[in-house]
Amino acid sequence: MTSSFPAPLSASSRSAASPAVTAGIVERLRAAGCVFAEDEAALMLSTARGPAELDAMVGRRVRGFPLEQVLGWAEFCGLRVTVAPGVFVPRRRTEFLVAQATALLREANGGDSTDGTDGSHAGIVLDLCCGTGAVGVAVAAALGPGSCELHAADIDPVAVACARGNLAAAGGRVYESDLYAALPRELLGRVGLLVANAPYVPTDAIALLPPEARDHEPLVALDGGADGLDVQRRVAEGAARWLTPGGQLLIETSERQAARTVAAVARGGLEPRVAACEELGATVVIGAKPDRSTAQGTASATASAPVTAPGAGGHTAA
Ligand SMILES: C[S@@+](CC[C@H](N)C(=O)[O-])C[C@H]1O[C@@H](n2cnc3c(N)ncnc32)[C@H](O)[C@@H]1O
Repeated sequence: MTSSFPAPLSASSRSAASPAVTAGIVERLRAAGCVFAEDEAALMLSTARGPAELDAMVGRRVRGFPLEQVLGWAEFCGLRVTVAPGVFVPRRRTEFLVAQATALLREANGGDSTDGTDGSHAGIVLDLCCGTGAVGVAVAAALGPGSCELHAADIDPVAVACARGNLAAAGGRVYESDLYAALPRELLGRVGLLVANAPYVPTDAIALLPPEARDHEPLVALDGGADGLDVQRRVAEGAARWLTPGGQLLIETSERQAARTVAAVARGGLEPRVAACEELGATVVIGAKPDRSTAQGTASATASAPVTAPGAGGHTAA
């Protein structure tokens, strides 16, 4: 089977520019304040399809657009994910969300391969607030071709169009939807894994974001309301209806907001815990829907839930 996911990263073989052209680009980028001017110039040189496109790329970068929007792609979990103008750029810390999700699915499969070669299947994966679709695509790619049924949703039509491109080869479906509102009803109670990197920046903190984010990523991708948790709370409140018994919700949050995310997940009837990765500065709250065959009930699930980090890259968080 040919690869059904966005291309893994590889060295590009686009035309080599003369040293003078390269030096000129580096100089323009450096003058605009790009700290990694040489690296960025190399990426643009390897991506542009000709001098006009190269010049346009450098111009947009000089005007402050995020590098990934300029290139049209971002590296995420070793994949090259298309990033359209105006769509949230997947962050490196979100790779921890993917690692946690993948570890849970492998665990649920008894540690068996989920690459489809042994007939195992990880079930339905739903990526809410998907942006480019990077999280869902990376989970599916990590599990292997044919190993899960991938669905994704975003409220922003520009993000939806971008995600459709990224998910197409994996056979994933993308819905323009305010969270669960436009999802197909047949997914109710059948989702094994629900991942959400919803906006979680408190409104007052938007002004403090770097200009690349503040000026070139849509507000709807950043603004999480007064305490940053408005969208997360709605994700948590609705998750149990869509999850299968034993299914898991994973929400990226920040260390500072984790206790409130945990409380929201518990209020949604799930059993919460926190996983964190210091290296990536990443925090994920995981909520398990009790499996009816083993559950004791969720009444005791509280914000003081156990704090653990299974799987690659994690460690116990305080
Ligand atoms: C922080 S970005 C994350 C994008 C992607 N998950 C990632 O990690 O790269 C949040 C995304 O949530 C979407 N969003 C915000 N509110 C939403 C809502 N009510 N329903 C669906 N999507 C929403 C935004 O359009 C944006 O694409």
